[in-house]
Amino acid sequence: MKRALVFGCTGQDASYLMELLLEKGYKVYGVHRRGSTDGHFERIEHLASKIHLICADLTDLGSLEKAFKEAKPDEVYNLAAQSQVGVSFLQPSFTQEVNWLGLERIIYCIKTHSPKAKLYQASTSELFGEVVETPQSETTPFNPVSPYSVAKLNAHNAVARERVHGMYACSGILFNHESPRRGLDFVTRKFTDGIARIKLELPQRGTGRDYLEIGNLEAKRDWGFARDYVKAMWLMLQQDVPKDYVISTGETRTVREFIEIAAAMVELKITWKGSGKEEEGYDEDGNLIIKVNPKYFRPNEVRLLLGDSSLAKKELGWKPETSFKELVKSMLEADMERLSK
Ligand code: GDD
Repeated sequence: MKRALVFGCTGQDASYLMELLLEKGYKVYGVHRRGSTDGHFERIEHLASKIHLICADLTDLGSLEKAFKEAKPDEVYNLAAQSQVGVSFLQPSFTQEVNWLGLERIIYCIKTHSPKAKLYQASTSELFGEVVETPQSETTPFNPVSPYSVAKLNAHNAVARERVHGMYACSGILFNHESPRRGLDFVTRKFTDGIARIKLELPQRGTGRDYLEIGNLEAKRDWGFARDYVKAMWLMLQQDVPKDYVISTGETRTVREFIEIAAAMVELKITWKGSGKEEEGYDEDGNLIIKVNPKYFRPNEVRLLLGDSSLAKKELGWKPETSFKELVKSMLEADMERLSK
């Protein structure tokens, strides 16, 4: 029986990945941080009896060494991170500490305790930053513009460095991937939660207002379904030769399009008034439902992401299986159901 050690096990991606690994007959060890609040395990409650939970922290080498000694992994998936790009501008040192140095500690543990283990590192389309070509593929130069992406680039380079020295290590350059399990502060889930609240006449999360506050509406993202994307992670560790791959849908949409499509699914039509920092969205009865708040703007924005995952299609046999509309619908339905209770 193969053994997998998954860092960041309470997150969206790990919840889907661990389902896949269990289906494939792995013994799964999930590493989580000690949390100060309850509800931390919401996404993996259904897996709790099937996985082995280990409490450790990417900033604490001793705890990581213990995790490796217990799990004795064949495959290591590093999905733990300070994953919010916006927050990284407020906490740049912490972001480096976790997103880069955390990975260096994992590499140390692999070399010391599990030298044959294969490593998957969660890289990101944010590495392309202020993009120098479109679409972006494995050969597109990186041009990071946030503390988050600088830290992730350091980690990405560390993986490439170890590969040169013989480790089976690869980075998945995943474009944005969403699901009903997405954290509520990422824009897609913030919108599906927010639209469901507007539809159900509930106050907005965090502000208590009747309208949803948002940031930059013009940024473009290539959004896929997280469950499809974790299959690519696993496939990357099953090859003869380790390599980095871009994983994306090859479609891009603005943040504004996302919210309009999601709103239309619950028969809300948004009429926009004003522009830039003053822009507002109204429903058909003239009620204010959306308002731009510059608080959600980033000091540097990644304006356009559009991935080319031809290499993954060709070499891994991977392709996205869920359409954009199916993805948005599933997120919206889940939020409507949760909030209706
Ligand atoms: N979070 C958030 N909140 N973003 C907003 C908002 C808002 O209220 N309003 C507009 N946006 C815009 C952001 O400025 C950005 O351009 C876009 O929506 C997407 O933001 P996020 O959903 O926070 O995702 P991200 O693209 O910054 O990063 C995600 O994808 C990366 C892969 O490309 C994260 O999951 C990263 O961890 C991941 O690496």
